[in-house]
This record gives sequence, C-alpha cells and structure tokens, in this order.
Amino acid sequence: MDALKTLETKIRDRSCTYGVIGLGYVGLPLAVAFAQRGVKVIGFDVDASKIAALAAGRSYIPDVPAAEVATEVKAGRFTATTDFGRLGDCDVISICVPTPLSKSRDPDVSFVAAATESVVRTLRPGQLVVLESTTYPGMTEEFLRPPMEKTGLVVGRDVGLAFSPERVDPGNAKYGIKNTPKVVGGVGARSTKLSADFYRIAVETVVEVSSAAAAEMAKLLENTFRSVNIALVNEVAIMCDRLGLDVREVVGAAATKPFGFMAFQAGPGTGGHCIPLDPLYLSWKLRTLEYRARFVELADDVNLSMPRYVVSRVATALNEERRALKGSRVLVLGVAYKRDVDDTRESPSLEILRHLEEGGAEVAYADPYVAEVTAHGRTYKGVGTDDATLAGFDAVVVATDHRAFPWDRIAAKARLIVDSRGAVPREHVGGTLWPLSGPPVHGVAKPAPKPAGAAR
Ligand SMILES: NC(=O)c1ccc[n+]([C@@H]2O[C@H](COP(=O)([O-])OP(=O)(O)OC[C@H]3O[C@@H](n4cnc5c(N)ncnc54)[C@H](O)[C@@H]3O)[C@@H](O)[C@H]2O)c1
Repeated sequence: MDALKTLETKIRDRSCTYGVIGLGYVGLPLAVAFAQRGVKVIGFDVDASKIAALAAGRSYIPDVPAAEVATEVKAGRFTATTDFGRLGDCDVISICVPTPLSKSRDPDVSFVAAATESVVRTLRPGQLVVLESTTYPGMTEEFLRPPMEKTGLVVGRDVGLAFSPERVDPGNAKYGIKNTPKVVGGVGARSTKLSADFYRIAVETVVEVSSAAAAEMAKLLENTFRSVNIALVNEVAIMCDRLGLDVREVVGAAATKPFGFMAFQAGPGTGGHCIPLDPLYLSWKLRTLEYRARFVELADDVNLSMPRYVVSRVATALNEERRALKGSRVLVLGVAYKRDVDDTRESPSLEILRHLEEGGAEVAYADPYVAEVTAHGRTYKGVGTDDATLAGFDAVVVATDHRAFPWDRIAAKARLIVDSRGAVPREHVGGTLWPLSGPPVHGVAKPAPKPAGAAR
C-alpha cells in the first residue's frame, strides 16, 4: 500500500496523529477541537511559557476554556511541546504561525519559513502538511513545496500539501471551528481530498477548491472585502461630518433595505492580526505581477487615517469648550482592537494614544481585558472607570466598545466624550457627546442610572 493510502485509512479511522505548529489564537482552538473529536494531537510552539501553561491545563486564549485544555491533556489526547523532533510522529501537520508585515509593510514570511524548516527536518512518506497561516496566492506551492521535495519525496505521491485558511473570529460565540465552513485547496487533487477528509473530522462543512492558490485567494478576498467595506463606511463618516450628519443614523437607515446592502459600521480604523495586514499580502503579490491593487491600497490609506481623524475630533470637541488638546487629560476607553477580546495587535487605539500624545495631551487608557500595553516605546498601565477617575479627565475617547464597560455611568459622568463606536447611550449623557461624525449631543447633568461599577 502506498504511504498516502495508509494516511487515508488513518484519517478514516481517526488513528492519525495531528501536529499543530503555532499554538496561538488559531492553533490552540484547532488543536483542542481535534483532540475533542478523539484525535491524538501534539501542539508545537517556540514559546516555552505557552507550552508550560498548556501542560498544566491552563489556557491563555479567552475562547478556549482552561477546563477543556485540562480535560484533553489529562486524557492524553493533547500534548504540547517545544520538541520539534516529534513532528516526525505526526501524520497531518497544520502550520498556524504568524504572517505579519515587515517595517516596509511587505509580507514577513520568516515564521512560515522557520516552521517549514522544522517540518522538512523530519518529513517522511505519508505525511500531509497544511498551511493555515494567511498568505499571498501561490505561497504554498512556491514556498513550501520546493523544500519538501528537496528531501526526495514527491508532493501528491509520497506526501500531501495543502492550504486551508483559518476563519476563526475571536470572541464570536455563535461561529466556532465546528460550524464555520472550511475551505481547502491542495497542491494536486490527492492533497485536496486528504485534507478535506481530515478536516471533516471536526468541521461540519468542508469546501474543496481546485488549488492551494484558489484557497489562498479566497481568504484574501474575504478579508479584503471587510477592509474595503470598512474603509468605505469610514470615508462616508468623514463625508457625513462635512455634511453635518451622523454616519450611524445614515448607515442605520440604509440598512433597512432588505436586499443589496450590507451594513458595516464606521469606527477608529481596523486592527488585529488579519484585516489590516492580509490585504497587503495580496497587493504585494500583485505588485510582483506589475499590477496595482488599487482598492486594497486605498482601503489601507483610509483605515490608517482614522485614528488621526478621531484625534482631530477630540481637538475640535475640546476647542468648543475653549480648551486646547495640549495639556488636556484624555482617557481612551479600550485598547483591544475589537469588543470583548484582549488582543491589542494593530489596534487603532494605540495610534489614538500616540496622536493624542503628539498633540500634547496627557493620556491614559482603561480596558477590562488589558492590564498593561506597550506601544511606540512606552508602557501604559490601565486605569479604572470609577466616577473619581472619570472626573479627572477633560475628555474620554471611546475606541473599543467592550460590553463590560459601564456605559450608562460613563455617559452620565464623563464631562466630554468622543465616541468612535456609537457605544454611549445618548439618553444618559450628562456632559457633551461627540459622535464619530455630525453635531455634538448636549446632555443635562443627571444622576447615574445605575450604581457605580455596575455593567450595562
Ligand atoms: N487571530 C485571528 O483571528 C486569525 C484569524 C484567521 C487567520 N489568522 C492567521 O493565522 C495565523 C496565526 O495567527 P494567530 O492570531 O494565531 O497568531 P498568534 O501570534 O496568536 O499565534 C502564533 C503562535 O505561533 C508561535 N510560533 C511562532 N513561530 C513559530 C515557529 N517557528 N514554530 C512554532 N511556533 C511558532 C508563536 O509563539 C505563537 O504562539 C496568521 O497567519 C493569521 O493571519 C488569524
């Protein structure tokens, strides 16, 4: 029997061993999901502190409860290690390492290169390698195949190779690994089939496409779609401001159309490890083919300009009260890039803090999920949102709409609020509220509707 046939049987009877390289936001949920389906999983990471936490049954990813990790570790279905020699024991290997941008905003594929090197060191017939890290179209075939075949093994005959984009949405309680359809595209039909069969163990719907590059492009379309639509509505916010309109009201009205319109909300920009970065992998690749991905670049420009726009709004709001940004005390609410998560990567809040400081403001932040954050060479420690703290600031900027913030009380107690997320209930405003666009809302000082510290 050929080695890939043996692998097919192991996948069918679930006796295959699954290796996951990179146990972060993507890799850890994947590893735990397969272990829960009875597959033996070995997780690999270069970060020894993560391995130690997992071995002790602890989790550092909010979407993965520690109890689930502990159960799988105890049952012997999930082991985490820094010993990459054990990759040779794995039948299927997913690579889930970061794919950031370099300083010049080009793809930084050094993490995928290092992971590929680890895989190649112990590559043997009957292994299937699946890249899950988001990348440019063509990378799986151009970047992983040559070193794998340098060993003398042939993709599609001795080993499998595929790309399957990860669609995890941190903090999303409705869609997880099981019920989010998964796209797979192999280097050759055999690799596609093997990886699709493998993912069906833990994912309800697996969509096969004709090539790894088609799967890579599908992922980039998904994230470029979000980036472009967010940029569109962000620019509409700036247009609305010139027109004296509130963009949220306008989007809300447009969204009543039951067909042909999908509502995106304007805000302080995009953040996280995906939306601000992935489309630039696409534009980089297209540049090598002498094509300029105009939508991608324009969306990037608009989204990157939003933190500066929000800070200009703060300056305008202070100006209306005969105050300057310079010397004012400004509290930024939320440094995570989106609501209810602890991830601060590429967060627009950090840019807001930077621009405020450049304008001479004294800044602080509050975030129930982030106790401390380091950005642009400074370390900030979070403060609370109690009444006394709120009273100590000239302005409050809402950058992230975490549900745990006591919005009613913030509305009532903060003197001046610039709300980039539409999180502050207008009916409770005690001072002045400046939405992302349009005229300010003046409140009448009234008692807080809920006791201090109570969440909405
Ligand atoms: N976070 C998301 O919401 C999300 C969603 C979809 C796709 N993705 C993509 O998935 C990939 C991983 O993202 P993430 O958010 O999980 O990143 P992450 O930083 O949370 O996790 C990556 C992990 O890889 C480890 N690592 C780095 N180099 C390694 C190596 N050579 N060998 C083994 N481990 C190594 C790191 O220590 C870290 O634990 C990226 O390509 C990202 O674009 C992320």
